[in-house]
Amino acid sequence: MYSSGTPRIDELTAEERAVYASLKPESMPQHVAIIMDGNGRWAGHRSLKRFLGHQQGAKSVQLVTETASRIGLPWLTLYAFSLENNLRRPRAEVNFLMRLLKSYLESNIERMMANNVRIRYIGRTHELPPEVQDKMRWAEETTARNTGTTLTLALNYGGRSEMVDAVRGLAAEIKSGQVAPDRITEADIHRHLYTAHMPDPDLLIRTSGEMRISNYLLWQIAYTEIFVTERLWPDFRGIHLLEAIADFQRRERRYGGLSDNCGEVENDPEPINIAAG
Ligand code: FPP
Repeated sequence: MYSSGTPRIDELTAEERAVYASLKPESMPQHVAIIMDGNGRWAGHRSLKRFLGHQQGAKSVQLVTETASRIGLPWLTLYAFSLENNLRRPRAEVNFLMRLLKSYLESNIERMMANNVRIRYIGRTHELPPEVQDKMRWAEETTARNTGTTLTLALNYGGRSEMVDAVRGLAAEIKSGQVAPDRITEADIHRHLYTAHMPDPDLLIRTSGEMRISNYLLWQIAYTEIFVTERLWPDFRGIHLLEAIADFQRRERRYGGLSDNCGEVENDPEPINIAAG
């Protein structure tokens, strides 16, 4: 299914169009998640203050979102602010990120509307400053009727705390007798995740070269293809999203099964006794 908005290929740059032309329409990802990393390093390499790296990172958010909407990607989920960022970064940086989020939403809302992008959030957003929550609600409501890409910003988000919240929700249902403990299924847990309304990501991109998941979408990425690039987030553009999708399309997704060319499968073979030593 590829229903989320008709692709607007004529709006891609010539470079983007060339990469897009090499993609297979039948195996486009439905959901791309991104760990946006490297803002601080981008600034450091230029002897700039860290906040300028975040500011440049916000530009990448908009440009990548617009390319996603032009190719008709249904779901784009960006790790914008983790629980750990909130707890472990200096207050001045956290406060700056909050102000940046507010001004980002305010100044990009028209472009979101022009690109038919719907904005949503996941995370413990009720713990963010009230004026930030107000702006978030406003952007969500303003874009609620858009039918193109859903841009989900993970804010004050942690994968483990999402599971804790899901378990709390499920525990309440068990207590009220709606669910029997010995009948709990994966679907029951899924139903209580922040992402219950969306498909799991097909592709997870991480910028700036770190080989870590950093507590992002832990449940949801069980079978997600991972693409790590050395490029720092403030340098990441739509063309790089398309290149990551091209790489994704070269992968063979097996979901724990077998590939077509996996060798002959015998009927009921006996295990050979393999003694260690
Ligand atoms: C990592 O850079 C990035 C973050 C702290 C989160 C992402 C934030 C943005 C892209 C800013 C704006 C976002 C929105 C939605 C307005 P880092 O500081 O960890 O980089 P470093 O590892 O190089 O220090």
